[in-house]
Amino acid sequence: MTITDTPHDATTTGFDGYDHQAAYARVRHVIPEVEWAIYEDDVTAIQRLKQEQDAVILAHNYMTPEVFHGVADIRGDSLALAREAQQVDAGTIVLAGVHFMAETAKLLNPGKRVLLPDLRSGCSLAESITPQDISELRAQHPGAPVVTYVNTSAAVKAASDICCTSGNAVQIIRSLGVAKVIMIPDQYLARNIAAQTGVEVVTHPGSCEVHERFSPLDIVQIREGHPGVTVLAHPECPPEVVAEADFAGSTADMQHYVEDNRPAKVALITECSMSDNVAADHPDIEFIRPCNLCPHMKRNTLAAIRATLETGRHEVHVDAATAPAARAAIEAMLAVR
Ligand code: 13P
Ligand code: SF4
Repeated sequence: MTITDTPHDATTTGFDGYDHQAAYARVRHVIPEVEWAIYEDDVTAIQRLKQEQDAVILAHNYMTPEVFHGVADIRGDSLALAREAQQVDAGTIVLAGVHFMAETAKLLNPGKRVLLPDLRSGCSLAESITPQDISELRAQHPGAPVVTYVNTSAAVKAASDICCTSGNAVQIIRSLGVAKVIMIPDQYLARNIAAQTGVEVVTHPGSCEVHERFSPLDIVQIREGHPGVTVLAHPECPPEVVAEADFAGSTADMQHYVEDNRPAKVALITECSMSDNVAADHPDIEFIRPCNLCPHMKRNTLAAIRATLETGRHEVHVDAATAPAARAAIEAMLAVR
């Protein structure tokens, strides 16, 4: 079914019970109508499959707009998705994100079936560190608590004292009330948080393959080309990049900044789809789009999500030996308010 013959302001509920016009209205500012027509078959099938399978889709802010606005039930940054995963009543959670997010959902709601559309959806940060690396850091810095970014495997979380996300890292570090912490595995997030908190931070040479590619010159050039632009950067960017920005925060923090401050022009120094998703809700704001793609996030195509609902692959499990300690590190984070 296509929607090309129907005025945009009409409500078209097809024989499948799905409101096609309302669905397109959410993305019309960022997806041309001819392109949306290509997605419609998968979008309609996914909506039906969710009901049949008693499933909900949790989608990270880096999903492409047809996934984020077209089929997701719950959207957000890593912190919001972790919190929401705990509350899910449906029998199945489809995690449109990356592997560590699916593991976190499984740890926080172990009775649910958690599906990841593509098992290759990893993360350069999660791959940069092992539990053995943490043991060595603990031996070198006795007594320093280990704060682990959620972008890690369950085994690494299990070797940690507490987790954090980019949305609550400052709060977590301050809550510990110590002068020195081991904060792994993102060297740039660690340095950015050290600068903000004044706490001595020992780290590990991990980095995000998306955010490490931004440079201060990118921001200088954006400002030259777009006078008056407000620049928001993700704290996984190198500190020199964050220093050039007007604000640094998690993907949800950036979204809230745009909603609260309504800059006329804004540049989000982060993954490509973030700008599209926020722009879809704010057609009056001009988005300058510096763009680095996360290949792992981009594996969550509509076709992959449809296939995961049709086949039940790929279910994510967490090793019973590591699950309790990993869960404790995440729950310690969620307890800090
Ligand atoms: P947040 O959405 O928590 O800011 O994280 C960004 C990220 O890179 C997740 O992989
Ligand atoms: Fe990992 Fe970076 Fe991709 Fe996020 S954007 S999943 S931190 S590689």
